Amino acid sequence: MNKRILVSTLVLAGAVLAWSAARVQSAADATPGACVDCHVKGADGDLRLSVILAGLTKEVPAALLAKSQAAAPKGVKLKGKHPNVAAMIKSIPDGCLKCHTKTSKSIPALSQLMHVIHMTGGDANKFLKSGGACASCHKLDEATGLQPIPSGAEK
Ligand code: HEC
Ligand code: HEC
Ligand code: HEC
Repeated sequence: MNKRILVSTLVLAGAVLAWSAARVQSAADATPGACVDCHVKGADGDLRLSVILAGLTKEVPAALLAKSQAAAPKGVKLKGKHPNVAAMIKSIPDGCLKCHTKTSKSIPALSQLMHVIHMTGGDANKFLKSGGACASCHKLDEATGLQPIPSGAEK
């Protein structure tokens, strides 16, 4: 084989490999839309966030309250009742972020809240047990290196 043909064959093979790797990667992402792709009505019950949050307006279960309290700003004691936010969560998590800001002095930041809820407790945590990971929410933007969380309407 002459050298030119060898080089272009290698380049082509490389491109095919890179293309199939990219396809495998996107095929493996079960939750490209983050929150709203998991929190659906399905075999495990109704996990839609509108439904979960409506439940929290009546009572926050003790285990969830304990985790959330740990994420609260210093000196804040959570009441154990969520306000009615139905009108504010047309897009999730952007709607949540209107209140749960990084700088809030009165309620937990959404990052801390989401991390303690999903990433702690080992196998007792259904999210971790079912293979949930950082990338279930954070999607790497290969152009910028940022890891934004897609936001969208509930399904
Ligand atoms: C890969 C699937 C998945 C993704 C993505 C996901 N969640 Fe969850 N979420 C779960 C599971 C499973 C649980 C239950 C965890 C446990 O066992 O305590 C949960 C628990 C919660 C809870 C607590 C519910 C309760 O009753 O204890 C809230 C609130 C929540 N998620 C909000 C969100 C938000 C907001 C996002 C996006 C920023 C998100 N989740 C992304 C699967 C997911
Ligand atoms: C209107 C502002 C507002 C919006 C929007 C909002 N929250 Fe909250 N959230 C609060 C307040 C206030 C508390 C503290 C309630 C308390 O003291 O128990 C709270 C507390 C929580 C807690 C801890 C449990 C509790 O109720 O104390 C979770 C979990 C939570 N929010 C999840 C979410 C998620 C997920 C979204 C978006 C789907 C969201 N919140 C949208 C204001 C808001
Ligand atoms: C259930 C969804 C979810 C999972 C899983 C998750 N995060 Fe996050 N993360 C968030 C949210 C929501 C924010 C806040 C985004 C914002 O404020 O714009 C955040 C913010 C961050 C930030 C920015 C700094 C901060 O604390 O605000 C870092 C760094 C981060 N996450 C790292 C991680 C790592 C590492 C993992 C895995 C160990 C992880 N996250 C898993 C939802 C998640």
